[in-house]
Amino acid sequence: MIQKGVEIPNTFRMKVKADCFVEYDSEETLADIDFDTLPKPLFHIGSGSNLLFTGDFHGTILHSGIKSVDTSSVVDGIVEATVGSGVVFDDLCEWAAVQGLWGLENLSHIPGEVGASAVQNIGAYGVEVKDVISTIRCYDILERVFVEISADECRYGYRDSIFKHRPAKERYIVTAVTFRLSTVAQPRLDYGHLRSAVETACGVNSSKENTHGTGLTPALIRQVVTEIRKGKLPEPEEIGSAGSFFKNPVVDQSVYDSILKSRQAEFGAEATVPHYPAGENLVKIPAAWLIEQCGWKGYIHGGAAVYEKQPLVLINHSGHALPSDILELESLIIDSVHSRFGILLSPEVDHL
Ligand code: EPU
Repeated sequence: MIQKGVEIPNTFRMKVKADCFVEYDSEETLADIDFDTLPKPLFHIGSGSNLLFTGDFHGTILHSGIKSVDTSSVVDGIVEATVGSGVVFDDLCEWAAVQGLWGLENLSHIPGEVGASAVQNIGAYGVEVKDVISTIRCYDILERVFVEISADECRYGYRDSIFKHRPAKERYIVTAVTFRLSTVAQPRLDYGHLRSAVETACGVNSSKENTHGTGLTPALIRQVVTEIRKGKLPEPEEIGSAGSFFKNPVVDQSVYDSILKSRQAEFGAEATVPHYPAGENLVKIPAAWLIEQCGWKGYIHGGAAVYEKQPLVLINHSGHALPSDILELESLIIDSVHSRFGILLSPEVDHL
């Protein structure tokens, strides 16, 4: 279906239009599209949950409505589910939890669709979607054929894959993703307070010694993760946002050491700086912490604001924020974190 001058769906709730919007509901209808006649550039979206449109889009927005789900039989405790790129990602997580299949439960309640999840390598609570992806089926716009790309070939990184960069970005359209889900319990509860939250919620012994995950189910972990997210992150139906606006920066150990030193000089030897190992001589420092230290939590700028409960999230506070309100706030935050800590934050949200 080709539409002209329609509003582009986006969870930031920016009122922006595309010259042309094309939605297809099967691989056959995608293959029938005459790309040569569409206004350029082409840009493929999911539910627009990780995008900031900085104005109307002069080109063609593509969207997948492919909603198929095909599952294999169980082999060695593994079920392969091949899921259409237009399926809502959390519907997939719910389906897996109801089936008792492990692998997606920590990724519950993330907005967006299956195709975008594989492009962006979404992650939460110690799991990235790449951990459970085996292959990605794509339409190759240049050769006009469907291809299967293995997860290894996607060069997955932190919120990154080949699909976010040229040439793959301009060449492939994801039509389906195959996930490897497990019938055997494999709870991953090491992130933050997840383990204790699970214990509190259900009284099940979720300690590391409970290696078989006895008493735990993916549905239960899904429920706990969903509650945590609801408590920290704005619900897209209520407040416009694109989730985490910035990436958590990875810095040299020496940068972390000097931040810690100056903090201890100011607040005493007990002072700490939150951080996680991120490879040899590298640490990840939560951007939320850096932004909060610079005093931005709850700050309102025009129609935009820094979310009070999680300063990594910029919101459409008034409901009528302009793209420029968000862009200005972004610059103010980047500048202040840079001048205070010497760390350059980079956005996680794609700007168009
Ligand atoms: N923190 C603060 N102040 C706050 C909130 C957090 O200082 O108000 C610090 C704390 O030290 C906390 C740390 O930030 O321990 C980490 O916070 P949190 O667990 O909320 O996670 P995050 O690093 O801020 C990342 C992802 C989220 C994901 C969570 C949970 C990125 C950019 N964001 O956020 O993903 O849900 O971990 O795994 O990696 C998203 O990508 O849109 C997203 C929401």
